[in-house]
Amino acid sequence: MYTDIAIDHFTNPRNVGVLEDADGIGMAGDPECGDYLKIFLKVEDDFITDIKFQVHGCAGAISSSSMTTEMAKGLPIMAAFAITEHDIVNKLGGLPEEKIHCSLLGAMALKKAIVDYAQNRKK
Ligand code: FES
Repeated sequence: MYTDIAIDHFTNPRNVGVLEDADGIGMAGDPECGDYLKIFLKVEDDFITDIKFQVHGCAGAISSSSMTTEMAKGLPIMAAFAITEHDIVNKLGGLPEEKIHCSLLGAMALKKAIVDYAQNRKK
């Protein structure tokens, strides 16, 4: 069973879209199911000022992606980097057992977007 919080994020996902002038972009996919997630970041003074996502996936992936962006928005990048799939699942009030792996996409794509930001800044 999905929680009310997860259903809310699935039916009304937050921060869907693309940031054309993103400072960092991260993508994660699950080869088993073919689902994937792309996260776009805007960063100022090492704080995440805007975040958007595109996802192709199941209800678990959509609700996790939406929650990931809500959790990361406004955080210093190091705090956002520390967000784990367990944090995302907890914020959703849980996920059905067979959907817990879907939250990995959010945590992985966010980390990759932050690494991309850090690499872009070095250039
Ligand atoms: S089943 Fe693929 S991410 Fe949910």
